[in-house]
Amino acid sequence: MATKNQPTIIFIFGGSGDLTYRKLMPALYNLYLDNYLPEKFLIVGIGRTDFTNATFRNHSKKGVEEHSRRKEEVKPGWKEFAPCVEYMKADLSNDATYKNMLKRVHEAGEEWRAKPTTIYYMSVAPQLAPTIAEKLHKAKLTADCKRSRMVFEKPFGHDLNSATELNIQLGEMFKEEQIYRIDHYLGKETVQNILALRFANALFEPIWNSHYIDHIQITAAENIGVEDRGGYYEQAGALRDMVQNHILQLLCMVAMEAPVSFDADEIRNKKLDVLRAVRVWEKDEVHLNAVRGQYGKGWMEGKQMKAYREEKNVSPTSNVETFAAVKFFVDNWRWKDIPFYVRTGKALQSKTTLITIQFKAAPQYAFPSKAGETWRANRLTISIQPQMDIRLRFQAKQPGPHMALQPVDMIFSYNDAYGDDHQQPEAYETLLEDVIEGNPTLFMRADQVETAWKIIQPILEVWQTRPPVDFPNYSPGTWGPEDAEALIAKNGHHWVTLPEDNQ
Ligand code: BG6
Repeated sequence: MATKNQPTIIFIFGGSGDLTYRKLMPALYNLYLDNYLPEKFLIVGIGRTDFTNATFRNHSKKGVEEHSRRKEEVKPGWKEFAPCVEYMKADLSNDATYKNMLKRVHEAGEEWRAKPTTIYYMSVAPQLAPTIAEKLHKAKLTADCKRSRMVFEKPFGHDLNSATELNIQLGEMFKEEQIYRIDHYLGKETVQNILALRFANALFEPIWNSHYIDHIQITAAENIGVEDRGGYYEQAGALRDMVQNHILQLLCMVAMEAPVSFDADEIRNKKLDVLRAVRVWEKDEVHLNAVRGQYGKGWMEGKQMKAYREEKNVSPTSNVETFAAVKFFVDNWRWKDIPFYVRTGKALQSKTTLITIQFKAAPQYAFPSKAGETWRANRLTISIQPQMDIRLRFQAKQPGPHMALQPVDMIFSYNDAYGDDHQQPEAYETLLEDVIEGNPTLFMRADQVETAWKIIQPILEVWQTRPPVDFPNYSPGTWGPEDAEALIAKNGHHWVTLPEDNQ
C-alpha cells in the first residue's frame, strides 16, 4: 500500500461537471483540512468548459462552500489549497490531451524530485470511460501499475454482457489492482460499521443465522423524484441504479462470513461468496419475487409533484421503474430459507436507508397471556442514513404492580457518541483517501460486479419483455405500490420503517 507521503496527481475527467463540483472537490478539500492528502499533491480538472486555472479555482471554491460538510471552514485553508488545483481545457478524444497530461506529470515529478502516483477519475458519462482508458493506456500514463490507478463511477456496464465486455477490455490494458470501481455506499461510516458490529463483538455472531433470524430487510428510500437526471434514469431504472450495486453490497455486508483478515481480497472474497450464493430467479419466478413501480403525480410534503412520465428528458410513455422490491435467498448453510427483502424507490415517504434484522420469537412463552399483549420479537435495526444509529429492540417489564411486557429500544446514536454528522467524513472522502493510499477493500472487483449483474439479469429481462400494465402505480409520498406490501405479506411479514413502527 502506498503511503500518505507519496506525491500524487489526481486527474479528474469531467472536471467541470456536477460530481466534481458537489462531491469530489468538497471531499478532497476536507481531506486536505484533515491532513490526509499527501504533502505534495496536484488536482487537475479536465473538461471542455472554458475555465482558466483561476476561474476553475473559484468555481471549485464555490462548490466546496455550497456542499462541504464544513462550509464555515472553507476560508482559512483555501489560499494554500488553491495553487494545487489546476484546469486543463481538453478534448478527451484527442491524443494531444494525453500528451499534455504526460508532460504535466513529468514537470511535477521534476519539481517534487519524485515520481508521482497518478490517479485518473472518470467523472464522465459511462460511454466515454472506455475510450479515455484506452487513450491513457496508449499514452503510457498507466504503465506503472503500482503507481497509477483509475476510478470508475457507476454504472459499470448496462447488463451482464456489457459489464463482462468492459471488464475484459480493461483487463487487456490494466491490472485489476489499478481499477477502482466505486460504490459510494461502501464509503459510508454506518455501512463500514456493519463489519465492526458483526466481527468486533462476540455477542451477535452466534445468533446471526437462520436458527435465530426470521428475515432481513433492506430499505433504501428517497423522497425526491429523478430531478434533472431523467436522461440517465431512463436508461437505468431502480433495479440498475440501486439494487445491482448499493443494495446488494449492503446485503453482502450483512450476510458475509467472518473474514480471516482485513486484507482487501479477503473481504472481497467473502462478499463474493454471498453474491454467488444468492438464488438467481428463473424467468417464470420473477413475478412472484420482484415488484416494480413508477410514481404518478401527487403531493409531497405540501408541494405538488410531477409524475415520473412528466419529468424532464423522460418519455411520456416510459415504462422505466422508479421503485423495485425483490425477495432474495442466500442459499448457504447460514442463511438457508431466510428471506432477504429489499426495496428502493424515488418519491417515497421519506429519505431513509435501513437494515432490519428481525429475530425469531422466543421459543417458550411463560408469561401470563395478558402480560404479552404488546409482546414483540427482538429486532436489530441499523439506520444507515440520514438517521445514523443502531437499535436493539427487546422486552422490558412495564413499571407497575402487574407483569406487563413492552418492547423498548436500546439505541447507539452516532451523533450522541461522536458529535453531529458534520464531524464525520463523507463517503467520497473515505473512498478518495483509499484510492490515494492504494487500498481497494471498499471497491468492487470485476467478479463482484459481474456476479451482481447475474443476480438481477433475469429480472431485467422479464421486466423489459413484459411491459407493466399499471404504471404509474404509486403516489409520491407513499411507500410504493401495494404489490410491494403483498410481496412480503404473503410470508406473514411487513416492511419496517422507523422510528414509530413497533410492530
Ligand atoms: C446513486 C443513484 O448511486 O445513489 C441515485 O444513482 C441515488 O439515483 C443515490 O439518488 C443515492 O445516494 P445516497 O447516498 O443519497 O443514498
